Amino acid sequence: MTSNQGFSGNFHFDGCDTVELAKKYKTPLYVVSETYIRERCREIRRDFLDQYPESRAAFASKAFLTLEMCRIIDNEGLDLDVVSGGELYTAIKAGFPMEKIIFHGNNKTLDEIRMAVDHKVGRIVVDNAFELEEINLYAKEKNCVISILFRVTPGVDSHTHKFISTGHLDSKFGIPLDERVRSGYIKRALGMPNVKFMGFHFHVGSQLLENASHLAAIDILTKLMKDVKDEFSLETKELNVGGGFGIRYTEEDDRKTLTYFTNAIMERIDEKCHEYKLLIPRVTIEPGRWIVGESGITLYTIGSIKEIPDVRIYVGIDGGMPDNPRPALYDAKYDAVIANKINLPKSEVVTIAGKCCESGDILIYDLSVPKPESGDILAVLSTGAYNYSMASNYNRIPRPAVVMVKEGIDRLIVRRETYDDLISREI
Ligand SMILES: Cc1ncc(COP(=O)(O)O)c(C=O)c1O
Repeated sequence: MTSNQGFSGNFHFDGCDTVELAKKYKTPLYVVSETYIRERCREIRRDFLDQYPESRAAFASKAFLTLEMCRIIDNEGLDLDVVSGGELYTAIKAGFPMEKIIFHGNNKTLDEIRMAVDHKVGRIVVDNAFELEEINLYAKEKNCVISILFRVTPGVDSHTHKFISTGHLDSKFGIPLDERVRSGYIKRALGMPNVKFMGFHFHVGSQLLENASHLAAIDILTKLMKDVKDEFSLETKELNVGGGFGIRYTEEDDRKTLTYFTNAIMERIDEKCHEYKLLIPRVTIEPGRWIVGESGITLYTIGSIKEIPDVRIYVGIDGGMPDNPRPALYDAKYDAVIANKINLPKSEVVTIAGKCCESGDILIYDLSVPKPESGDILAVLSTGAYNYSMASNYNRIPRPAVVMVKEGIDRLIVRRETYDDLISREI
């Protein structure tokens, strides 16, 4: 565990005193543990890639992407899943190997398709008929062949918030699994000289604490692979099973090990491929949250404290939904500590309120803390995924800086936005 209590009695994170970090860099502040991220990447190598040598693992960069993150992921030998021109651009600028890029998106623009083809990304995951034609046309113009997967919607429900559930039939993502996948998409792709059909992709949802949806999707996808073999005498070479492995936000989350997901996934694929007499495909996993979620914390300074007798105590912080929109978006739950009072008994129950002009800008309801005072530093835990990457400038609040920490050493990897940044694109 990277967080503990250090000699000062303040809350420490990857060997750094978080109260000192707040003083040095000001708040709100994202703090990301390099040790934690590398530990997760190495766990993936040890428990998945080394166990199943043909397999691949890509970090889903939508969870948290900076130039430095690209370098760490490359250095740890993982691939990178990108979903937009901006994510791809970041990877290009970081010097990330393009053959290790998986390019996603449910509505890739022509410019994005061209950018992906120009840089010869490793895989484009085709989501619809329109982009299949465009990839082939542009690859022809560039005289190259692009390897593709089809993203299929397996029609399974997953037990998570509906905004992060993606594998059910009524979804904007992927190709609905019916006759058209084979007769339309695959037949068409096989006739295209500038695309190479490699296999299928599915992603059933995010923050999953059970493996049932992945396994149900594998049953459906392996049957599709059998049908493809029967119809086209073609073995499906690759199966990308997406991400979605859940993490611990609060003590209510029953976080599972990586192998709880990956061993079950691999066993089921093995079993089904034997049953259908298929060659075992190369399997790719795409975790995002699982790699970075618990690597991050956000530090805030407590300002106003407002007690409404017999109702609640609102504790105001200097950030909120612009740096962490997840509670407002998905009713996401977080845990937090007062970093400078880590040893004091938790005597109060308070509500952590953000500073935006929205009643829904509440980060945490009913948090047990020592008696809070203005000037205290609040550390919200497990904010490494979908916080910095989802941040906005709502109410013209500049985005926080990002500091990376490792065994007591801190370094700035993204500077704080300034008020001048806010108006810098205006004419
Ligand atoms: C295609 C795809 N792959 C991977 C992920 C990563 O999901 P998670 O961060 O839950 O692992 C997502 C998340 O939305 C996704 O859409």
